[in-house]
Amino acid sequence: MKETSTGTTSGGTGTQAGETLLKVTGLQKHFPIRKGLLQRQVGAVKAVDGIDFDVRSGETLGVVGESGCGKSTMGRLITRLLEPTGGRVEFEGRDITHLGVAGMRPMRRDVQMIFQDPYSSLNPRHTIGTIVGAPFRLQGVTPDGGIKKEVQRLLEVVGLNPEHYNRYPHEFSGGQRQRIGIARAFALKPKLVVADEPVSALDVSIQAQVVNLLDDLQDELGLTYVIIAHDLSVVRHVSDRIAVMYLGKIVELSDRDALYETPMHPYTKALLSAVPIPDPRRRSAESGRILLKGDVPSPIAPPSGCRFHTRCWKATRICTTQEPPLIELRPGQRVACHHPENAPDQAPEDTELLSAAIEAIELVTTDDVAPAGGGAAAEAGSGPATKAVTKDAAKGVTKDAATTDAAAEEPADGTTSDE
Ligand SMILES: Nc1ncnc2c1ncn2[C@@H]1O[C@H](COP(=O)(O)OP(=O)(O)O)[C@@H](O)[C@H]1O
Ligand code: SF4
Ligand SMILES: [Mg+2]
Repeated sequence: MKETSTGTTSGGTGTQAGETLLKVTGLQKHFPIRKGLLQRQVGAVKAVDGIDFDVRSGETLGVVGESGCGKSTMGRLITRLLEPTGGRVEFEGRDITHLGVAGMRPMRRDVQMIFQDPYSSLNPRHTIGTIVGAPFRLQGVTPDGGIKKEVQRLLEVVGLNPEHYNRYPHEFSGGQRQRIGIARAFALKPKLVVADEPVSALDVSIQAQVVNLLDDLQDELGLTYVIIAHDLSVVRHVSDRIAVMYLGKIVELSDRDALYETPMHPYTKALLSAVPIPDPRRRSAESGRILLKGDVPSPIAPPSGCRFHTRCWKATRICTTQEPPLIELRPGQRVACHHPENAPDQAPEDTELLSAAIEAIELVTTDDVAPAGGGAAAEAGSGPATKAVTKDAAKGVTKDAATTDAAAEEPADGTTSDE
């Protein structure tokens, strides 16, 4: 293990392992939509719409959800790269919600972000030495032995050749560039690192290496992570707790093992069982999946009540009118659902299932999965058969199968036939 020597530490009070490092309350980000000559605001994209969570010192909090659900916006809000519309962000007990650039400068050392795209996040005109050394210059910190020596040490720590100090980003592969981004983020020995889909842009073969690097660095440096991913596979092995986001909200926030073993929110269950697989040959082996059909509704006008009700196979009337609060239903497991999974009252009799939900429940059995080779009509995304499925699914969720009645009745135009 190597010790970094980044000079003095910033003014934080210091947080013991397990104590709350970051606390987020009612956090919101609404991006205004403007129109016309006067640029009048005509609406807002409710990218993050009232979320509460905390991050404990030394832990890794995974954040997952489909594309567009507000993960990156959340990451940028808590690192204060974006100004929140509402709510509160506290770091080490200090309110940083509306700190300006100058106020945030000392904080920048403690809170760092690793970006999704290692291609656009590194300035192509700067050498690796300049890029990784930038945090020292920006903060006016001179590490023991000078910046160059420290940068070379950091390059070595992240598995790069320190001799490559004078090379440019285009001379490196995607995985190596992400290592450079990691070296830059770790230069000032931050307390909190927010990694926004740090491996999504990388080859699958390299993803595990980069995730393992992050994991090793955490062990060495006692860091706290928020790791954002769009599916549950990436965060599974590194997270202590996981927050599942849907349309600007956290729908489940749970200890890792409980989330994987007994997910309580239907959306979590769907995410766990139904990472959509575009390859029909593989899909046939994946019977038992719940495939969420249709797109995530628009965050400009999210559905009333529970935002997931337009795609949920358990939706009842109350789901369309009352937003379920995120409450702790089991120790370490907070869920926002009127009829949670793995709970005794998951299908209360005094509520009336929506007809779409009833249809969807019928679809959620393991029997009606498209047989191998018959998946063409089920292929998500195009063709009249799919239209039929998604039309149906606009009301709810369908099983991973094209062989719903609706799909079967729809005339095929040849391009999406069952052949
Ligand atoms: N700067 C912006 N202006 C307007 N809308 C934005 C902006 N950034 C993100 N959004 C919108 O906010 C929603 C959430 O985006 P994002 O946080 O990037 O989601 P995710 O990272 O989960 O894919 C999306 O609908 C996106 O189009
Ligand atoms: S059961 Fe109701 S509250 Fe729960 S996720 Fe489905 S629609 Fe939302
Ligand atoms: Mg994103």
